[in-house]
Amino acid sequence: MSDKKPLRSRAWFARQDKMGFYYRSWLKNRGFPQDQFDGRPVIGICNTWSELTPCNSHFRTIAEHVRWGVLEAGGFPLEFPVMSLGETMLRPTAMLYRNLASMDVEESIRANPLDGVVLLMGCDKTTPSLLMGAASVDIPTIGVSGGPMLRGIHCGTPIGSGTNVISMSEQLRAGQITLAEFHEAEADMHRSHGHCMTMGTASTMACMVEALGAGMPGNAAIPAVDARRNLLAREAGRRIVELVREDVTLSKILTRQAFENAIRVNAGIGGSTNAVVHLIAIARRIGVDLALDDWDRLGRDLHCLVDLMPSGKYLMEDFFEAGGLPVVIRELAAQGLLHRDAMTVNGHTLGDNNRDARCFKPDVIRGFDAPFKRDAGIAVLRGNLAPDGAIIKPSAASPRLMQHTGRAVVFESIEDLHARINDDGLDIDENSVMVLKYCGPKGYPGMAEVGNMPLPPKLLKRGVTDLVRISDARMSGTAYGTVVLHAAPEAAAGGPLALVRNGDAITLDVARRSLHLDVDDAELSRRRATWRPPEPHAARGYVKLYIDHVLQANDGADLDFLVGRSGSAVPRDNH
Ligand code: FES
Repeated sequence: MSDKKPLRSRAWFARQDKMGFYYRSWLKNRGFPQDQFDGRPVIGICNTWSELTPCNSHFRTIAEHVRWGVLEAGGFPLEFPVMSLGETMLRPTAMLYRNLASMDVEESIRANPLDGVVLLMGCDKTTPSLLMGAASVDIPTIGVSGGPMLRGIHCGTPIGSGTNVISMSEQLRAGQITLAEFHEAEADMHRSHGHCMTMGTASTMACMVEALGAGMPGNAAIPAVDARRNLLAREAGRRIVELVREDVTLSKILTRQAFENAIRVNAGIGGSTNAVVHLIAIARRIGVDLALDDWDRLGRDLHCLVDLMPSGKYLMEDFFEAGGLPVVIRELAAQGLLHRDAMTVNGHTLGDNNRDARCFKPDVIRGFDAPFKRDAGIAVLRGNLAPDGAIIKPSAASPRLMQHTGRAVVFESIEDLHARINDDGLDIDENSVMVLKYCGPKGYPGMAEVGNMPLPPKLLKRGVTDLVRISDARMSGTAYGTVVLHAAPEAAAGGPLALVRNGDAITLDVARRSLHLDVDDAELSRRRATWRPPEPHAARGYVKLYIDHVLQANDGADLDFLVGRSGSAVPRDNH
């Protein structure tokens, strides 16, 4: 036992008075004998299991393996539930509740007698919400991801989460497949425990956990149902006890270097645009002032090495079999693109952990000299249409549209889009720029994944497969296209996006990082004078709190009063 400082759990369990009785006695009803309170590290296992979060449905099993690891290392494991966010279930969007879940995590960790915590996370928002909450407490922490599902297989062909949903629903609408076949495909796509197995947001964030050093090596890609996922969980359980003894708090792992590594790895994997808001939010909780421009500065000129859906053809199971994230990290580090000496939770540096990683499938993970896609980092756009920034994923965009001027076709809301997009009378052509308003953090509310607007059928029939699309929304990590996202300030906050009208010329120039509304300032001022904010979505409750306090996308869409950390101290007893 280190003598650096007493474990925080001693403030509960070392007491030999009335309060000590309270703190120990009620736990003894579960069969914990007196020796469990002898000063061994108390480890929380923060579980996001829920039947309403199908991607995390195997977390009871993973929690048991963590528990065994903690016990083997001489710790005292206590599992606890937190709010779980199921991406496919929650309406209007799971993102609305990311910050609420982070508050649950933060307060649950701080208020309880925990010396360290293992975070179990899988589905998209369960990763950032848990990391954000834990960062604001800053005790020793290890993230354990649940792992991706096995590859989907439909009629002998691999299919990917999300990525193939749209094509199949189009086939159903066109009468090319029956309803029974459609239902069969639903089971074929998601046929095992785990999160989406494309390089969508869940896989991206699992990679971020590993790249940040907050997870064990190999955390990102081991399939959920592979026994090695259980081994990793057990190792994490053992290791968290040592981290407590070594007093390695999360802030010693989540340094600026770690976030810079994560940004570069995100480019290397062609990761989801959602990582931008999540990493900024996590960083600012722990005290690292990560900015939107860091993404462009660090990701510019980086290549995507992995051929995974939605940009490519393989799936996470293939990525794992190819060697997984360690290969990408090794390759980027060899180019001098990573901080190799960044410390990770297993006690070794990122460079040491991944130096000897081997690639077993070079068609899945390419080398830096012959990458899958060049210049794959997130591009940050600015201009009078997004003074505080907007983003685009160049690797998912059409090269012909990277420099483009077109006239705006404006949708004033998501309902307006749904009402008119299928109308053959819609005045739109292949040079148009689609603009969707009021889908940002305050506007939707929750900044839903609706930025990759569907293309109008009248253009699809003519073979048009992409248009420039601009909004203040996010985009699913499983989607692609020339889609400008996260425009800030958003329309509902009075951003210039609110002032765009049908027929306005808009110029996108990704090489110049520019997004310009070709309307003069005097006219914009006239429009602003008549603009009125939308009616608020809620008069009470969490949604009102969220709308009143949510920050814009460039600041991570956290609640303003949650930025930063409060530490782990709780001086007062409860009775
Ligand atoms: Fe859970 Fe995709 S729906 S990760």
